[in-house]
Amino acid sequence: MATKTFWLCCFLLLGIAFAQDEDAVEGDPSAEELCENRPADEYFRLSTEGDCRDVVRCTKSGLKQITCPSGLAFDIDKQTCDWKGKVSNCDKLEKPRKILPILKTDEPVCPEGKLSCGNGECVDKELFCNGKPDCKDESDENACSVDEDPNRAPDCDTTQCILPDCFCSADGTRIPGNLEPGNVPQMITISFNGAVNVDNIDLYEDIFNGLRVNPNGCQTRGTFFVSHKYTNYSAVQDLHRKGHEISVFSLTHKDDPQYWTQGSYDDWLAEMAGARLIMERFGNISDGSIIGVRAPYLRVGGNKQFEMMSDQFFVYDASITASLGRVPIWPYTLYFRMPHKCNGNAHNCPSRSHPVWEMVMNELDRRDDPTFDESLPGCHMVDSCSNIQTGEQFARLLRHNFNRHFNSNRAPLGLHFHASWLKSKKEFREELIKFIEEMLSRNDVYFVTMLQVIQWMQNPTELNGLRDFQDWKEKCDVKGQPYCSLPNACALTTRELPGETLRLFTCMECPNNYPWILDPTGDGFSVRK
Ligand SMILES: *[C@@H]1O[C@H](CO)[C@@H](O)[C@H](O)[C@H]1NC(C)=O
Ligand SMILES: *[C@@H]1O[C@H](CO)[C@@H](O)[C@H](O)[C@H]1NC(C)=O
Repeated sequence: MATKTFWLCCFLLLGIAFAQDEDAVEGDPSAEELCENRPADEYFRLSTEGDCRDVVRCTKSGLKQITCPSGLAFDIDKQTCDWKGKVSNCDKLEKPRKILPILKTDEPVCPEGKLSCGNGECVDKELFCNGKPDCKDESDENACSVDEDPNRAPDCDTTQCILPDCFCSADGTRIPGNLEPGNVPQMITISFNGAVNVDNIDLYEDIFNGLRVNPNGCQTRGTFFVSHKYTNYSAVQDLHRKGHEISVFSLTHKDDPQYWTQGSYDDWLAEMAGARLIMERFGNISDGSIIGVRAPYLRVGGNKQFEMMSDQFFVYDASITASLGRVPIWPYTLYFRMPHKCNGNAHNCPSRSHPVWEMVMNELDRRDDPTFDESLPGCHMVDSCSNIQTGEQFARLLRHNFNRHFNSNRAPLGLHFHASWLKSKKEFREELIKFIEEMLSRNDVYFVTMLQVIQWMQNPTELNGLRDFQDWKEKCDVKGQPYCSLPNACALTTRELPGETLRLFTCMECPNNYPWILDPTGDGFSVRK
């Protein structure tokens, strides 16, 4: 399924790329009128006749036409080519314009505590961007980005935002505790997304073989963002026993990015708290250590996701990406406004104040020869750096990005993977292990979990005092065998996934049903009252 979507995306992108080369539409008398007040990146139709493949866009040299590949039609709402059967707006010339509220006026137009809707109606400020329309023209929900929301979190105020609970800086690059970069350990967080099972357990055992230790003598650690389906919970239990961090990557991992971007509070609750419940129960994790969330496809769910997280005592999110900049960004808390642009993530970053840490994903610099190559946008997951094809290129990527962090502000370096990418070529795995060993031969690099990063930031400790840093000593050197050598292999079904029998491996007792979103414990649907 994932591959199919991937190819479809490529196909569509290529379609647009090819089509863009076509000549400007000449001599259209109304081009100027058509383009007045229209965003430069918006495609619209000149006519609703024909096969729905042609659209235009405004450029400095006039209108540019593009044509979708045959068989496809242009979807005006989604602004992309799609299968003809899926496009239902061929009769519309342009995307409906959203009516905006009137937030910036020289003189206040509404009484104190109220703001003006697009139609001049005055409505309580708190009602803007609360997820339901309150203006008659619904304009109160149309300007709600991180920079627009009238109830957005304030800019970072370092007199108010004090460790250990709050950390922010104006541009996000400041080192906690104002330490000198030379005294800061270079933390590296290796993380994996997806189900833990027979396809990847060997890889994890290879990378974290228990013999590679950080300069404080404790084993290197990683963070696992685990999705539920096909996960082997006795393997999760063992990763947790060995001191790795287990976090949630959702219950269904539904293959529909909009579901996540537009998810309701209850969707996020069922997905993330449900996934944690399953992991705690079938991975026998009872120490309350599952505190992190990553959004599938990194489709952050705006304020709703973060409200759910704070209600459910999730401590951090690790889904927001920061575009490649000169200096990388340190993780921050979201009490104050995020210190960088909402890049990607479908622009649905949280605008309000939330008591949650953001373990921001700094994009990696993927240029093969950074001193020479033209600029290329960065990539957040290592496997999204699509130009990395060989082990040698991967080795250079690791070292170049390490140096970028190490030689600037030593913000933690995140290396985020899907196991299948690392397994796709033997040389990728070998190069990663070579890199880890090279780093460990220094005395200033630590491979730690997300939680360990937060612990360090809450109590910034210089390199020469780190050997005795107690928070990093827990489960320092884990030996011994898994809790159970022969997990139960429960063959289960659920009414929620008709026709599928799934195997759930666990050291615990088998449930009655395969746990799924309405029934995360697998006990059966709760009786409706
Ligand atoms: C599940 O994980 C456990 C613990 O790592 C392992 O012993 C077992 O073989 C795994 N089972 C399958 C089918 O992958
Ligand atoms: C589950 O965890 C508890 C507490 O850590 C432990 O006593 C028990 O033996 C574990 N059970 C299994 C089956 O792993």
